Amino acid sequence: MRVGVLTGGGDCPGLNAVIRAVVRRGVNGHGFEFVGFREGWKGPLEGLTMELGIGQCRGILPRGGTILGSSRTNPFKIDDGVERIKKNLAAHGVDALVAIGGEDTLGVATKLADLGVNVVGVPKTIDNDLSGTDFTFGFDTAVNIATEAIDRLHTTAESHDRVLVVEVMGRHAGWIALHAGMAGGASEVLIPEQPFDIDEVCRNVETRFQTSFAPIIVVSEGAVPVDGGDMTLSSGAVDAFGHVRLGGIGDRLASEIESRTGKEARAVVLGHVQRGGTPTAFDRWLATRFGLHAIDAVAAGDFGKMVALRGTKIVRVGLDEGTAKLKLVSPEEFAEAQVFFG
Ligand code: F6P
Repeated sequence: MRVGVLTGGGDCPGLNAVIRAVVRRGVNGHGFEFVGFREGWKGPLEGLTMELGIGQCRGILPRGGTILGSSRTNPFKIDDGVERIKKNLAAHGVDALVAIGGEDTLGVATKLADLGVNVVGVPKTIDNDLSGTDFTFGFDTAVNIATEAIDRLHTTAESHDRVLVVEVMGRHAGWIALHAGMAGGASEVLIPEQPFDIDEVCRNVETRFQTSFAPIIVVSEGAVPVDGGDMTLSSGAVDAFGHVRLGGIGDRLASEIESRTGKEARAVVLGHVQRGGTPTAFDRWLATRFGLHAIDAVAAGDFGKMVALRGTKIVRVGLDEGTAKLKLVSPEEFAEAQVFFG
């Protein structure tokens, strides 16, 4: 069997670990051949390929990014996109595809599976917002990077008696903010699922200063104020899946806090630092296991599925289960973090 592999959407630490595991097990365990498709769905759409064998996968386990490249190409927004993909898969003798991606990339995989393409999905995203799996790989690395940043910000915030607002990624889901905020001892965590009240945020800032510790506020890029005001700025740019580019909430929040409390407040935007560099041991372990199980699903002819972590087991779930709706932070989980606010 000849298997195509692609990585789509925002990159995340652990993509290379998945590719390596898919290829190693596929070649040695199943006698498969591979072709790498470049830059997400753009690869099969435009016939952009690269050689992919055990040799190409040597040394990539700890490397961030993806040797295949990535993009946010949506073939369903392009005339004849699906037909072109089918044609290119046939032209390269590809019998099955392993698609490694988040809600958008796997959303495309779900639709293609319905249209008869043999595809197995691997869930990736630092946002950890895919349903059907306890965790996506990349998330643990992002949380560790954000936690280290928060740890460092505590001492400088205290030295200068100022508020520090840390803006982390998380468009629709506040998982990174929640986990890093709890692990880093933030004085407040603001997430998209729970609109925030700026008056309450300022009250917590004042309470925190009374303890002689400085407030550290962790905010997801997609967090919104309860009054619906527009604090989440974007450049206005929209990607092929209709997502607006977020960013700016940290700065807006800092200046609002400063003008309301009279305390100096600064913002730190972690941005793509959270997605770059080497994966944690957990993410290498999870990504490797996802890769092994994904290629086994291909060997079993179990298409239209996504591998998923349930407890400590890797299982297969329908791609539609993983992509139908996002996994969001529940009020109960948020309430645990709230115990430490202020
Ligand atoms: O989906 C993962 C993610 O990192 C989001 O948290 C963030 O909003 C988005 O990607 C940023 O995308 P880009 O790298 O295209 O700016």
